[in-house]
Amino acid sequence: MTETAHRHGRPYLGFGLGLRPQHYAEILDRPEGEPGPRVDWFEIISENYMAAGGRPLRNLRRVAERYPVVMHGVSLSIGSVDPLDEAYLAALKALADMVEPAWVSDHLCWTGVDGVNLHDLLPLPLTEEALAHVARRVEIVQERLGRRIALENASTYVTFASDEMAEWEFLAELTRRTGCDLVLDVNNIFVSGFNHGFDPIDFMTGVPADRVVQIHLAGHEHNETHIIDTHDAPVVDVVWDLYGETIRKLGPVSTMIERDADIPPLAELETELDAARRIAAAALAEPAPAR
Ligand SMILES: [Fe+2]
Repeated sequence: MTETAHRHGRPYLGFGLGLRPQHYAEILDRPEGEPGPRVDWFEIISENYMAAGGRPLRNLRRVAERYPVVMHGVSLSIGSVDPLDEAYLAALKALADMVEPAWVSDHLCWTGVDGVNLHDLLPLPLTEEALAHVARRVEIVQERLGRRIALENASTYVTFASDEMAEWEFLAELTRRTGCDLVLDVNNIFVSGFNHGFDPIDFMTGVPADRVVQIHLAGHEHNETHIIDTHDAPVVDVVWDLYGETIRKLGPVSTMIERDADIPPLAELETELDAARRIAAAALAEPAPAR
């Protein structure tokens, strides 16, 4: 598929990786005549470039000249009851105006309250009250950035007794109210499904397919009674299976592998990305079974 308007006006980018400084040289400084890495696009962690001048931004500009780039943040704290951080939004907009990413995403979560940053992506109560609160804030963020945002499902380890709906119902209604897009993290869906006892397929079926602009794949740590989303290992077989199911249901979605720790050489991630290409192609060749 070519890079044309695809989902909700967003392009289909193919198969990408999270851009990590360990790989700059392998991406940018290849010997003359050697082909580039088998990576169609890169996702950057927005905050790593917001305060940075100099080298990080120069490297980012060079990557952005050669590859489509999307921006992914971890500090928006869209679910918090603290006021939105206007300085953060202004810096995010400045970066987006420079990078011209295919889209800008963050997580459906909160990361702190009363000015204290807890440095974690924490779950929200899945209530109408929280939905109205988040929807208002998404609209403000989209207005400040001058563009729609996409929100990703985080891995969660607790739920609230006050929950009134499933996470996918919350996300589906949020996209309806605000026009925002979604990033589906297939590993996070598997992790949360295991931890809370829901069927990941219900999640995939419950979100509006045309709003899913991107998929994240990552590894996790299985501790028998619970799973922790560590992003430090290859994607596990059961998540590959779920990825295939997801593509069968949703059709082609820009997909990337997200490794945040124990980062291997680029070639290893290229091989893992080839697996994603094979699984997606096989899934698309086979229609989704009726459910
Ligand atoms: Fe993710």
